[in-house]
Amino acid sequence: MNQIEVKKAEGKLGVLVVGLGAVSSTFMTGVLMTRKGLAKPVGSMTQYDVMRVGEGADKKYLKYNQIVPITDLNDIVFGAWDVYPANAFESAMNAEVLKEKDILPVKDELEKIKPMKAAFDHNYAKRLDGDNVKDCKTRWDMVQELKKDIRDFKEANGCARIVVLWAASTEVYVPVNEKVHYKLADLEAAMKADDRENIAPSMCYAYAALTEGAPFIMGAPNTTVDIPAMWELAEKTKMPIAGKDFKTGQTLVKSGFAPIIGVRCLGLAGWFSTNILGNRDGLVLDEPANFRTKEVSKLSTLESILVAEKQPDLYTDYYHKVRINYYPPRNDNKEGWDNIDIFGWMGYPMQIKINFLCRDSILAAPLCLDLVLLSDLAARCGRYGIQSFLSFFLKSPMHDYTKNEIPVNNLFEQYVMLKNAIREMGGYKADQLID
Ligand SMILES: NC(=O)c1ccc[n+]([C@@H]2O[C@H](COP(=O)([O-])OP(=O)(O)OC[C@H]3O[C@@H](n4cnc5c(N)ncnc54)[C@H](O)[C@@H]3O)[C@@H](O)[C@H]2O)c1
Repeated sequence: MNQIEVKKAEGKLGVLVVGLGAVSSTFMTGVLMTRKGLAKPVGSMTQYDVMRVGEGADKKYLKYNQIVPITDLNDIVFGAWDVYPANAFESAMNAEVLKEKDILPVKDELEKIKPMKAAFDHNYAKRLDGDNVKDCKTRWDMVQELKKDIRDFKEANGCARIVVLWAASTEVYVPVNEKVHYKLADLEAAMKADDRENIAPSMCYAYAALTEGAPFIMGAPNTTVDIPAMWELAEKTKMPIAGKDFKTGQTLVKSGFAPIIGVRCLGLAGWFSTNILGNRDGLVLDEPANFRTKEVSKLSTLESILVAEKQPDLYTDYYHKVRINYYPPRNDNKEGWDNIDIFGWMGYPMQIKINFLCRDSILAAPLCLDLVLLSDLAARCGRYGIQSFLSFFLKSPMHDYTKNEIPVNNLFEQYVMLKNAIREMGGYKADQLID
């Protein structure tokens, strides 16, 4: 097989995060604390997972950085944009995800991460009213200012490479509009014509990142890069894109649990998922138009795992409902309930209840790290366009819907895709063995 040419992870990697809220500040604090030897990056595949390469007598079990060159945590430099002016230290303190004792040792470093002015439109997140916002006449101006931010940050921090990660609030749902979102030329024309209805601010970040030679990752359910025009741009700029929506709590459980029902050929009558959470994310998602974006993303998981066309007796017309309720007392500690109505032999009904008392940002932070490091790796390997191997980390994996491509949502199939991509980038053969 052809050996892929992999550039070394030399120099500094600038990680520019859109949104400096609960997830981002927890991510940054954890990386800085790990660097000091004061915390462990638990949950991060790039830091912990050990996988097999080779088969039979040649097989070995290695960590990712023994197979491919992954950027060292010491080489990461953080930057951010936010609607509010709070620096990363203030943001971590406000978020109340981490205890003070886990933030104070890196206070100085966090304080230096001051958010650049956001490219923001109040109509896309009505519950936010910060004033650390760019004053732009058009969407195209937003793009130009963001491009300048990226270039300036890269130069000021001596970075060799940049990755841009969206960990900002979920925007209102932007339905895919063929006239604007299918061709790059139409997208650019709409940005220049300041078409605010079809061009979300997040699209300006993505456009700026890709055209500045930086991979772009969408951690919210926004349709930003999930449109053919952005795929065209990723191809043109030879940059990787990944999305969408971090797969953290309930959907992680769903994508890992649904295969149990599927492999045992049990039937599904309904799956009701509900959540309570009280952080700013919950506040934004309390707005119906913003929740709609999340709902579409969360609902897509089951359909490709338990498929009616393949097993009409078992999976036709099951009722799938997802709810998110804003409930301030819980803050970032989300509680998710799943009630699963299944049926067995001769159609007899049974129920499964799952109650996950999770911590949203604690689950999201390692995904941020892995997505950033693996997108940077992908770029150094010359991979571009949609990075399906990163579906493992994402709730609603991007796929070419214009060609009726079906996304892979089954966690274990996604894990095979992840490992095979690492194998190929490391010069090993992909395989289907289960270990
Ligand atoms: N934590 C999880 O489990 C999880 C899982 C999946 C997805 N997400 C998504 O991750 C995102 C971040 O979550 P969070 O809990 O940190 O939310 P948060 O509200 O604490 O932080 C988001 C930040 O983004 C800022 N922001 C909004 N629009 C912006 C813009 N246009 N430019 C720059 N900044 C902007 C807000 O001011 C806020 O500070 C949300 O979209 C959430 O839906 C989180």
